[in-house]
Amino acid sequence: MKENKLLTLAIETSCDETSAAVVADGREVLSNVIVSQIDVHKVFGGVVPEIASRRHLEYINEVAGRAINDAGVTPGQIDMIGVTKGPGLVGALLIGIATAKALAFVWDKPLVGVHHINGHICANYIAHKELEPPFTALVASGGHTSIVNVMDYNKCAVLGKTRDDAAGEAYDKVARVLGLGYPGGPAIDRAAREGNPNAVKFKRVFLEKDSFDFSFSGTKTGVSNYINSEKQSGRDINPADVAAAFQLSVVEVLVSKAVNAALISKSGKLALAGGVAANSLLREMLSDACKKNGIALYCPPIGLCTDNAAMIGCAAYYKYMAGERDGMDLDAFANLEL
Ligand code: KG4
Ligand code: ZN
Repeated sequence: MKENKLLTLAIETSCDETSAAVVADGREVLSNVIVSQIDVHKVFGGVVPEIASRRHLEYINEVAGRAINDAGVTPGQIDMIGVTKGPGLVGALLIGIATAKALAFVWDKPLVGVHHINGHICANYIAHKELEPPFTALVASGGHTSIVNVMDYNKCAVLGKTRDDAAGEAYDKVARVLGLGYPGGPAIDRAAREGNPNAVKFKRVFLEKDSFDFSFSGTKTGVSNYINSEKQSGRDINPADVAAAFQLSVVEVLVSKAVNAALISKSGKLALAGGVAANSLLREMLSDACKKNGIALYCPPIGLCTDNAAMIGCAAYYKYMAGERDGMDLDAFANLEL
């Protein structure tokens, strides 16, 4: 590694992954340590916020230490600390923020708080070294689903967002009704491969003409109603068929709106981001639609789609380069506009 590269130690604890990374010049990942809490929350069928905070507290020092060791650097070589400030679970965020503040104070380094969704978008800069703004991004995670025009590294405009459930949230809830376990996204993705997506037809909610907003709660309720009515009629449901049909109804809407947004914004580029970006059908259908419409599609590798600190390090780097700094009063935000 060249000596003059700017090294960021980044920390991410917004939900159920305790993660720390060292990133050079924003796009080169020297280490990216992720400790997942999935096994702890699985028995409850979803993330229990209080347990998440306690686990972050238990692991964060070790994870940050491992990130520095794995990167082969010393604390003295770190130039700045980046941390997720929101949106997310406040108790969970606070553990990462308190750690970042302590390190920034003790090592006398600048501190930069990052928007979690901006981090997800930045995963694409790590994966695709040639990618530069402007481009359109579809961000779909467990807490958010939005279409964003990324005008510059630190400037974006939200074209539309979900009015109720996030796409990942709908996946998780439908998986729960189908008894497929937590997290629901990967479980539905797997189950759907064995199912017939046309066995049942669930509602595709496009909302008003030309709207880039989403609504997935009606589709989710449609699945519950279907399961209940089949059960009441004494018929067995095929979970794989239901998973495949539900997935197609969500993915069709995501693909159609994202491609329209990319066409309207004329950047010719569409980036996918967030945990749901790991979905195999979404990647496949978006790839086909982008090819047909002459749009260059950027997808991060699966490991950079779900929560990780490397993406936060990338976002923090661009904020730092624009002169942004946070003080010891940096707070955690459950909700935060992009
Ligand atoms: O971005 P992320 O790790 O955390 C949030 O910021 O919310 O996203 C987690 C979400 C969960 O809802 C999970 O079920 C979903 O991403 N997810 C998937 C897949 N892998 C993760 N959804 C659909 N298909 C997948 N393969
Ligand atoms: Zn996330």
